[in-house]
Amino acid sequence: MKTTRIAMLGLGTVGKSVVEILAHQNTVVIDKILVRNPHRHTIDLPLTTNVWEIIEDPDIDIVVEVMGGVDPAYEYVTSALHSGKSVVTANKEVVARYGQELMELARQNRQGFLFEASVGGGIPILDALNWHLRTTVIHAIEGVINGTTNFILHEMEQGMEFSHALKRAQALGFAEQDPSADVGGWDSARKLSILSGLAFNSWIHAEEEQVSGITHVKSSHLHRLRDMGFGLRLVARAEAQASSLGFVVAPTVYPLGHRYLQLSGSQNAVGIFSQAGTIWFEGPGAGGIATATSIVSDIQRIRFSLPDREPLRFDNVPVADIDDAYLIFREEARQPMPEVPDSLQKGPGYLLSSYPLPPDKGLVQYRFRAK
Ligand SMILES: NC(=O)c1ccc[n+]([C@@H]2O[C@H](COP(=O)([O-])OP(=O)(O)OC[C@H]3O[C@@H](n4cnc5c(N)ncnc54)[C@H](OP(=O)(O)O)[C@@H]3O)[C@@H](O)[C@H]2O)c1
Repeated sequence: MKTTRIAMLGLGTVGKSVVEILAHQNTVVIDKILVRNPHRHTIDLPLTTNVWEIIEDPDIDIVVEVMGGVDPAYEYVTSALHSGKSVVTANKEVVARYGQELMELARQNRQGFLFEASVGGGIPILDALNWHLRTTVIHAIEGVINGTTNFILHEMEQGMEFSHALKRAQALGFAEQDPSADVGGWDSARKLSILSGLAFNSWIHAEEEQVSGITHVKSSHLHRLRDMGFGLRLVARAEAQASSLGFVVAPTVYPLGHRYLQLSGSQNAVGIFSQAGTIWFEGPGAGGIATATSIVSDIQRIRFSLPDREPLRFDNVPVADIDDAYLIFREEARQPMPEVPDSLQKGPGYLLSSYPLPPDKGLVQYRFRAK
């Protein structure tokens, strides 16, 4: 298989980790990286401030967008797809707002547009929705998908007031300098839009009345709840109803001992309630290496479809096509990434993992029957 040439838009927390992971692989080469301030970087790779050097370079196969924000990221992603490049992005704002349009644009240009890292950082939840659960009826999807509010609520349970807990979260790098999207519930709403877009083919643009954050929660509320045997987390839930989709982000109360109340720091948990039963995903919802692991996985998935430019499948997979499905997790994020053995690629069913690895110590493997 030929070497895949990629370019990156952005070299921040996530971008640097993508570079770190790819340093262990010789099948993917980083040709160029777009940044705002090249003098601030000491990396030994070609940097540019001119995005057209990337978009117009015919040798670049995949553009990895890790710069964040809608403007100009959306324009750059659109231009890359128009010029026949696949795109991998971690940008939940762009995907929540334009995901459906960009998936269609990618399809028209016979390219991949993958965005696993945009929800749940290092958790392969979109992969599961796109592939493994494609053939099952999903009733609801819910989860704790914002680490910042987790951290703040946990601190408040220890007695801190909201404003102090927020300052501590910012000092420790858990919260952005502008935390309004996190604490106001909008970050969770964007991620839920993406989840429900894939689960229900319904791309919701959340309204004010569907989204409520944690700014009004007081530490005294949490203490009273705890005395009664309950705790509170910011939960996002989309649920198929008779002829509509319920969509809500809200601080929600659970009995002590519930899995959401055990999550710490940037840990996320997402439950998918389906005809196949309830399936839980839990893991790192943010962080450079965790998020970059999802990005590199998307790069690899596109890479395997590149030689003949097969479009990636987002349409319904007939049940009869699937015999077995495998979900394989790496336990240790820093393990080197081996090549995918041919036998696994050609075997029955689908590989849903970020990385299909040969059996090894330290691996947890799950096997599901898909029919
Ligand atoms: N951090 C996480 O844990 C995490 C988790 C999941 C998803 N994400 C998503 O991943 C994306 C990147 O996050 P991050 O934390 O890595 O961001 P970051 O640390 O702020 O890095 C952003 C990078 O993009 C570059 N950049 C921004 N605007 C640019 C512009 N207009 N032109 C050229 N370069 C530009 C910056 O260049 P300079 O270096 O020159 O300033 C910087 O290198 C975001 O969409 C975020 O929501 C992040």
